[in-house]
Amino acid sequence: MRIAIVTGASSGIGKEFARQIPGLYKRLDELWVVARRTERLAELKEKLKIPVRIFDSDLKRDYVYERMERELERMAPDIRMLVNAAGCGKVGVCMSLDTEGQLGMVELNIHALTRLTCLCLPYMSAGSRIVQIASAAAFAPQPGFAVYAASKSYVYSFSRALSCELRKKGIYVTAVCPGPVDTEFFEHADGAAGSMKKAFRACPEAVVRQALLDSYKGKETSVYGGMIKAARIFAKLLPDGMLARMMQKINEQGDYS
Ligand SMILES: NC(=O)c1ccc[n+]([C@@H]2O[C@H](COP(=O)([O-])OP(=O)(O)OC[C@H]3O[C@@H](n4cnc5c(N)ncnc54)[C@H](OP(=O)(O)O)[C@@H]3O)[C@@H](O)[C@H]2O)c1
Repeated sequence: MRIAIVTGASSGIGKEFARQIPGLYKRLDELWVVARRTERLAELKEKLKIPVRIFDSDLKRDYVYERMERELERMAPDIRMLVNAAGCGKVGVCMSLDTEGQLGMVELNIHALTRLTCLCLPYMSAGSRIVQIASAAAFAPQPGFAVYAASKSYVYSFSRALSCELRKKGIYVTAVCPGPVDTEFFEHADGAAGSMKKAFRACPEAVVRQALLDSYKGKETSVYGGMIKAARIFAKLLPDGMLARMMQKINEQGDYS
C-alpha cells in the first residue's frame, strides 16, 4: 500500500499539498492527513478523489504518534511522501511573549516535525520523499521573531543533514523555505504581521507547486520567488551580527511590539 502523509492539512500550505499530491502521485492508495480541526479535514476528504485517512489530533500530544505507529505497524505501508507542514509562529520580542507560547513553537515546529519524521523513516524506501516546511526566516536571526526563526533554522539544518544521510538509500529530503505566504498563519501570529510582508505574500498554490517540482527533481531546498532567492544569497554574504540588526530594522517597520 502506497501512501502520502501531510501534516497541517486543515489550512494553508499543508492543505494545498494535500490537494496537489494526488494529481502528481497517481499510484497512491491513501492520503493520511493530520491537524486538529476535524471538520476541515472532513471537508478536504470530501473534495479529494483519493481515500483519505484522518488523524485529527494535536501534534503536541502523544496520542497522534501512538495511533499512527499502530496504523503503520498494522498496515506496513510504503510511505512515498511525508510533508511536515504543521507549524506556527508568534510575532513579538521575547520579553513581550508568554513563555508557553514560545515553547509551543519549539514543540510544534521542531519536536513534532522530528518525531514524525523518525516515526515514518522505517516505512520509506528508494524514491520516497520528505518535504519539510522551513521558512525564509531560517536564513537569518530575526529580532522580533526570534524563536520562530531559530526553529526554522533547525528545520533547515536538520533537513539538509538528513538529505545527506538518506541520499544513498534513494530517499530525497527537501527543505521548503518560502517568504510570506497568504495563509491563516498571520491570523495566529499575534502582533502586527507587518505591512511589507502583507504586500509581498505569495499564493500557497504556487509555493506548493514549486516545492513539489523541486522535491521531484531531488533538490535539497525549495525557495519560491526571485526576492526570496536574492534574500538567501544576501544572507549568506553578510556577517550574522549585521544581518540580525538589519532584520531588526525590517521587522520593526512591521510594527511588532
Ligand atoms: N504563511 C507564511 O507566510 C509562511 C512562510 C514560511 C513558512 N511557513 C510555514 O508553513 C507551514 C504551514 O503554515 P501555513 O502558512 O499554511 O499556516 P496555517 O494556514 O496557519 O496552517 C498551519 C497548519 O498547522 C496545523 N497545526 C497548528 N498547530 C497544530 C497542532 N498543535 N497540531 C496539529 N496541527 C497543528 C493547523 O491545523 P489545526 O489548526 O487544524 O490544528 C494548520 O493546518 C508552517 O510550518 C509555517 O511555519 C509559513
